[in-house]
Amino acid sequence: MEQSQLTDLLGQMTLDEKIGQLLQITGDFYSDKAEERTGPMTQLGLNEDDLANAGTVLGVTGAEECRKIQTAYMKRNRLHIPTLFMGDVIHGFRTIFPIPLGLASSWDDEAAETMARVSGHEASVSGLFVTFSPMVDLVRDPRWGRVMEATGEDPYLNGKLAAAMVHGYQGDDLRGDTSRVAACVKHFAAYGAAVAGRDYNTVDMSERQLRDMYLPGYKTAIDAGAKLVMTSFNTVDGIPASGNRHLFRDILRREWGFNGVVISDFGAVKEMISHGVAGDERDAAKLAIKAGVDIEMMTVCYLRNLGDLIESGEIPEQVLDESVMRILQLKNDLGLFENPLRGADEAEERKVVMSQKHRNAARRVSEESIVLLKNEDAALPLDAANTVALLGPGARSTDLLGAWSWKGEEQDVTALDASLNEAGFQVQTTDEIFDYLDPSQQAIDAAVQLAGKVDVVVLALGEPSFMSGEASSRSDIRLPQAQIELFKAVQAVNQNVIVTLFNGRPLDLSDVQPAKAIVEAWFPGTEGGRALADVLLGKVNPSAKLTMSFPVSVGQVPLYYNVDNTGRPYENDPEGKYVSKYLDVSNYAAYPFGFGLSYSSFEYGQVEVSDSSFDAEHPLEISLTLRNTSERAGTEIVQLYVHDLVGEVVRPIKQLKGYQRVTLEAGESRRVSFTLSEQDVRYVHLGDRLESDPGQFDVMVGPNSRDLSEAIRVELF
Ligand code: GLC
Repeated sequence: MEQSQLTDLLGQMTLDEKIGQLLQITGDFYSDKAEERTGPMTQLGLNEDDLANAGTVLGVTGAEECRKIQTAYMKRNRLHIPTLFMGDVIHGFRTIFPIPLGLASSWDDEAAETMARVSGHEASVSGLFVTFSPMVDLVRDPRWGRVMEATGEDPYLNGKLAAAMVHGYQGDDLRGDTSRVAACVKHFAAYGAAVAGRDYNTVDMSERQLRDMYLPGYKTAIDAGAKLVMTSFNTVDGIPASGNRHLFRDILRREWGFNGVVISDFGAVKEMISHGVAGDERDAAKLAIKAGVDIEMMTVCYLRNLGDLIESGEIPEQVLDESVMRILQLKNDLGLFENPLRGADEAEERKVVMSQKHRNAARRVSEESIVLLKNEDAALPLDAANTVALLGPGARSTDLLGAWSWKGEEQDVTALDASLNEAGFQVQTTDEIFDYLDPSQQAIDAAVQLAGKVDVVVLALGEPSFMSGEASSRSDIRLPQAQIELFKAVQAVNQNVIVTLFNGRPLDLSDVQPAKAIVEAWFPGTEGGRALADVLLGKVNPSAKLTMSFPVSVGQVPLYYNVDNTGRPYENDPEGKYVSKYLDVSNYAAYPFGFGLSYSSFEYGQVEVSDSSFDAEHPLEISLTLRNTSERAGTEIVQLYVHDLVGEVVRPIKQLKGYQRVTLEAGESRRVSFTLSEQDVRYVHLGDRLESDPGQFDVMVGPNSRDLSEAIRVELF
């Protein structure tokens, strides 16, 4: 449709029809096949007119189902405006990829784009037009269950991966390429900074910190062309995001120029009553529409009150028209007026969903997402000459898809034991199934007995998927107690223990530190059992690196690498009393941001800079020679960090400003180069000015945020 036709259409709409466009309801109001319930269901008391006018639908998929709903909907809708199917395709539709915290550990933008491309394609042929992804919330607190959905603690990496996902979902021609879906960046903003890591809790920080650390990831994704933004449940500076005009009108729309659709999170508009900034649903509707929230998800504050607010003159109809136009524009950008089902197609659905090509893609990404945290005495790869027992709750588990795998099916998963057997590697197991949280004494005894008879034990531990994700915060981030007991009992009879982990957050791994090897597999997705087996057998050389710090203790949290130096840094006087430290644990992560091992070994040559200074016209070249000193090919993720020594406000002691995945044959060397521009070192000054500070900078390169080269000092003019 031409813009003029959209304007004409808007002109024909009644007030009720306009307000109806702003409502999103779950599919079970239209069909008994809707699956996705992601929030508190409340009785909305909708009538047939409401259903005929509701602008979008949450959580229905299936080409046939969507076709039925759309056909009936467009008949009942007086102006035959199509509805719009949206859903949560977070890291896969039916072919499930590693959870985002695992995918991010690949540091591979292409892997992120592949995940989105495959997931969006499967979603589109199944009738979805919009996915509520990428989630770009910066995270520093592993107590928060939704860290599994995030890509980590660094704004630069979060932004790069989110932009890659946006492109994977949307492609370059969203209207013409019906195998794509529109992306929705969430949760705006700073949902990951919930106080004490407790989901839905208060977020409170300076606007400068918000703009400097938390907003850049979202902005990179929005600059990549994301069509929608979702509000977050939390308050920002005392005002819930869904009613926060400064966040949405000032920053998102005016400063950033975002003219797409803003959708509330599930029930978030009405929840402003509970937050205490709205006395009733009418107040909540007023706050949200003034903030620029276009679609209200699964509450009816708009439906029940916007008409009165407009007729009373409290809200100009123009404000409503702007929201309706953005929604019509989104439907038009998706080509729905000409093709109300877009890519939905039963035949395509049967061909594309869970195709071998998609499974292969998921397997490759899983392989790149598995982090080798420890490998003492080359305990890994497994040696076929040894007798090996595979024990623990993860041994046969197919709970490998994670908490946001909606359409994923455990039946599609090959567990670790079957994967090892499939790869031709015989392991011994016990008959008893070992529960993640409450194993039987019989299972424990059998495990310990077998452990005492073999050369090597692979102990598959972790969290059940329901212990992470939304509304799943934990105050204690150790492994479940039963697993700690099992580890100790096995370790007592066999010193050669290899721990593998299926989990959705950084854990305190102190209890299993005596293991010879530790492999972090996250929830690795449909092909994750096979990917982990290939890593354990050495068919895949692990290359992944953490994007979120693993603490020594939950007492250190929030813990992250890009910290401020403070006035009394521990490093200045490690034996001193009056320095920033704890009496009972170290300041440092057990496994820091950027850390991950390989079966290869890499040597970092002397870091060189192109000049001793740089400026806005002359960026700095930073380079070094990387050598694979091992007997096998491998991939190293080389990282560039920068420290702004004197800022208008304190600056982190280091910040990631570049990364490269470098694959080298055994013995091969290669020159690795980075470019650092004046723009790269800008940050939000007082008064929200995004500028750089002339002065001295240290540049460092290394395999992770801790083990870095000697800093080279350069000057920015
Ligand atoms: C949930 C989540 C959000 C999701 C939405 C729709 O409550 O917070 O991430 O996209 O509801 O399912």
